[in-house]
Amino acid sequence: MARKPLIAGNWKMHLTVAQGVELAEQLAPVADAYSDREVMVAPPFTALHAVTAAVKGSKLHVGSQNVCWEKQGAFTGEISPVMLQDLHVGMAIIGHSERRQIFGESDEMINKRVLGALEHGLVPVFCIGETLEEREADKTFTVLEQQITDGLQGVNEKQMESVVIAYEPVWAIGTGKTATKEQAQEVHAFIRQLLEEKMNKNVAKRVRILYGGSVKPENVDALMAQPDIDGALVGGAALQFESFSRIIKFT
Ligand code: PGA
Repeated sequence: MARKPLIAGNWKMHLTVAQGVELAEQLAPVADAYSDREVMVAPPFTALHAVTAAVKGSKLHVGSQNVCWEKQGAFTGEISPVMLQDLHVGMAIIGHSERRQIFGESDEMINKRVLGALEHGLVPVFCIGETLEEREADKTFTVLEQQITDGLQGVNEKQMESVVIAYEPVWAIGTGKTATKEQAQEVHAFIRQLLEEKMNKNVAKRVRILYGGSVKPENVDALMAQPDIDGALVGGAALQFESFSRIIKFT
């Protein structure tokens, strides 16, 4: 079964409810026009409810930017997978580098989030990536292997088929510096090989691996032409209709 590309927009801490609804309403018909690709937007929590309501009946997926592993309880500042299900949110970004770097989320915590999401039927968009320092010290593959091993611990082969991996080199996020298509492809092929070794060939063939980090209308086509790049996780360029719709329409 061929992997269906996923173009995901991470709105981060941007857009009011009205702005988010307007953008999602513009994007819904673009997403609906394609059967060979999926589109997701991840609004801030404040806009999740309104955005899911605004795109009801469309193929545009709505995701969250994080998710807790517990259903409910004393977890101030967290959002439960059950609450997300209640809103018909089907995907959750987990382990974004901003969560790891600014808010100190560990591989262990990220692993709990992944398992919690899977347990509640949410598709985890599990993010990994090396820093510039790690790349320059030739540690890229070691770091990624560690993040995958720790972050996906306890995920079984069946569950793994629904996990989406997003490779986002930290040095390329919001910096305008994209990994070259060759650099990205090299890492994506490495991740797929690792999945084959850790799980099996079938899982490796089915798991979607997105690239993220300064994806723009100008570079999306070249990135998407790589055999192991199955989509994009887009930050800055996902905030405007013109740029994100062009990214969705990659050729
Ligand atoms: P960027 O962000 O496209 O603005 O580089 C990507 C991300 O952080 O997911």
